[in-house]
Amino acid sequence: MSGRIEVVVADREQAGAEAARRILDRARRGGLRRLGVATGGSAEPVYAALRADADAVALLRETTAYALDEYAGLAADHPDSYRATLMRQYASPMGLSPDRLRVPDGSAADLEAEAARYDAEIAAHGGVDLQILGIGGNGHIAFNEPGAPLDGRTHVQMLSESTRADNARFFESQDEVPTHAITQGIGTIMSADEIVMLAFGAGKAAAVRDALRGPVTPAVPASALQRHARVTLIADGDALALL
Ligand code: F6R
Repeated sequence: MSGRIEVVVADREQAGAEAARRILDRARRGGLRRLGVATGGSAEPVYAALRADADAVALLRETTAYALDEYAGLAADHPDSYRATLMRQYASPMGLSPDRLRVPDGSAADLEAEAARYDAEIAAHGGVDLQILGIGGNGHIAFNEPGAPLDGRTHVQMLSESTRADNARFFESQDEVPTHAITQGIGTIMSADEIVMLAFGAGKAAAVRDALRGPVTPAVPASALQRHARVTLIADGDALALL
């Protein structure tokens, strides 16, 4: 089944509040046991809104959070690992016990086996209930770079130079940005019951246009979302400028 992607125009702060409202509505109806969490700047206002809301903290502490991806080669306690980042921004302030934050182990000796294990863990539940998603300037979702199969499962992915450059701001230098990651595949992401994608700034405008209005193609990983029944894009005017 596919549905029209709903578009909500909002600045960063409003977008965080709107995404948090959707998450809480779902939690209050009893439909949120597993929340898919993204790292990166786009998801930060969502976590800020949730952290600031005592009801959210009370409602979400017994849910489980599933990360989209993790760098390969960084220990879990490395400050730039996605586990450490999501612990700081979401799990710890929300009162989740550490085992309720599920992240692929980027320091596993056999990364492919770890990717398969993580995918099976998500598939065992039929996917997460609601996935918070960002979009890369090149149309990537999670670390599925252009060309990744639209039905792919969790796997080891080599990162493009543009993605490493985008993420260099979180590291001391671009050389320190890992070259590979474990990432949910597009098929894994599509197994979420509901997806809330956030996009801010002119750097996302072409990717947003291609994802929503272009053909569904591996060249634009986010275009797969056109085939999902329940996707909302919450974005600012700059990111929506080319629609
Ligand atoms: C994060 C992730 C990435 C980001 C994307 C956008 O877990 O998988 O796909 O969502 O790169 O990043 P920001 O939000 O920093 O612009």
